[in-house]
Amino acid sequence: MKFQITELLNGKRTLVNISKRVFLLSFILFVTISLLSLVRGSLPSSPKKNITNSFSFRSKEIKKCDVFSGKWVSHPQGPYYDKDTCHLILDQQNCINNGRPDIEFMNWRWKPDECELPLFNATQFLTIVRGKSMAFVGDSVGRNQMQSLLCLLAGVAYPNDISGKYTLHPYSSVWFYADYNFTLAKFWSTFLVRGSDADPDGHSYNSVMNLYLDELDKSWVTQIEKFDYVIISTGQWFFRPLVYYESGQIVGCYKCNNKNITDLTNYYGLKRALRTAFETLIGLKGYKGVTILRTYSPQHFENGQWNRGGSCGRTRPFTVEEKRLDGYMLEAYLSQVEVFGTEEKEARKKGLQFWLLDISELMMLRPDGHPNRYGRSRDKNVSINDCVHWCMPGPIDTWNEFLLYFMKMGSQISSSLKLQKVF
Ligand SMILES: *[C@@H]1O[C@H](CO)[C@@H](O)[C@H](O)[C@H]1NC(C)=O
Ligand SMILES: *[C@@H]1O[C@H](CO)[C@@H](O)[C@H](O)[C@H]1NC(C)=O
Ligand SMILES: *[C@@H]1O[C@H](CO)[C@@H](O)[C@H](O)[C@H]1NC(C)=O
Ligand SMILES: *[C@@H]1O[C@H](CO)[C@@H](O)[C@H](O)[C@H]1NC(C)=O
Ligand SMILES: *[C@@H]1O[C@H](CO)[C@@H](O)[C@H](O)[C@H]1NC(C)=O
Repeated sequence: MKFQITELLNGKRTLVNISKRVFLLSFILFVTISLLSLVRGSLPSSPKKNITNSFSFRSKEIKKCDVFSGKWVSHPQGPYYDKDTCHLILDQQNCINNGRPDIEFMNWRWKPDECELPLFNATQFLTIVRGKSMAFVGDSVGRNQMQSLLCLLAGVAYPNDISGKYTLHPYSSVWFYADYNFTLAKFWSTFLVRGSDADPDGHSYNSVMNLYLDELDKSWVTQIEKFDYVIISTGQWFFRPLVYYESGQIVGCYKCNNKNITDLTNYYGLKRALRTAFETLIGLKGYKGVTILRTYSPQHFENGQWNRGGSCGRTRPFTVEEKRLDGYMLEAYLSQVEVFGTEEKEARKKGLQFWLLDISELMMLRPDGHPNRYGRSRDKNVSINDCVHWCMPGPIDTWNEFLLYFMKMGSQISSSLKLQKVF
């Protein structure tokens, strides 16, 4: 199978055959991007020409460690929290409470090949974010990560729900940690750009939606300017039938069943929407925040899709030899990383940091981490087979270990750069 990949570091477009080897290479390039993005806009004006040069800005630890390549290892100490020590687990992801009998899935940690991923330290996290704000923007998988963060912090502090102070989508929420003056928000926006139902029969799981690919969804963009960290989560919703608009005109569609409209694929919509989101953030006058793209979160339905009896009953992780990201999930991931690579360069010109939480490949190894039939529908009191979201506690807690790791590295690097400027 052939994909078009933008080679991120030199901007040249090449058509490459995806083999494991090439994938590994691009993976290394992507990781490089994510590390480069840690270095605030103080790089030489043309940093890509001399990679070694920009590497020298990094601390030793970053230089030698790619935290996203490694393996899941047994961690008999178990998770950070449970349903009794964190009362903020949503029903939908409260797998043990919903009757999941096996608990082994909670006893694994991510072990990078070349270093340790430090345990999450709530005090450390809250110290870094004192007086700051963080927003999760996107779909329900982003909300899943935010709930995980709430629980990881619950041992040290509980927030107040201050959503009432804002005009929000009903699925959005804002929390405030008074002791740390830290605001944590979730802005619900499944496509990041404006979308509306287009099906005369109303909204259903497979109804057509109109997407205005060059118009950002106002529900989050009007609120985002002052946030210090913005974590973008998107992807799953681009697999439904969509009609694409640009400048108010139909430009194409995905699965729209209309011979008069060109099918541009779902990746087209995903890329274009992500680009609009990043470009808007970069262009916002008052925005000084760090933008973080959490890459595509893989699903693990087996023996059928979600609505055709598919399920995910495995109770152990895969090894790297057993499973790789491939097919449509690989392509969704590559689409995101391509846009990230281009926009990160633009961001850097303006002194803004873009980080990549590159979790797709390593979460592909966790078919055991989903609620499966111990999930719940959001709106109805019925169980559903959920192989998209992640049990809490569970492997999604690792995403916040990465987040804290990057926040610590980011602040170290910024301060060492400041020192270099002084001298
Ligand atoms: C890159 O920078 C390093 C360190 O400044 C230097 O030694 C090296 O010659 C440079 N390489 C190129 C290709 O410019
Ligand atoms: C967590 O971080 C705080 C503040 O840096 C430190 O005092 C404490 O020892 C850390 N806890 C653990 C378990 O490492
Ligand atoms: C709390 O943080 C906000 C920024 O998020 C800042 O504007 C405000 O001055 C802080 N308040 C206190 C009491 O430190
Ligand atoms: C396609 O375009 C033709 C000519 O404009 C029109 O007659 C037809 O109804 C259109 N078909 C659909 C499915 O919109
Ligand atoms: C959900 O349904 C179960 C049985 O189907 C019932 O025991 C439980 O009380 C219900 N919960 C709520 C919140 O309605």
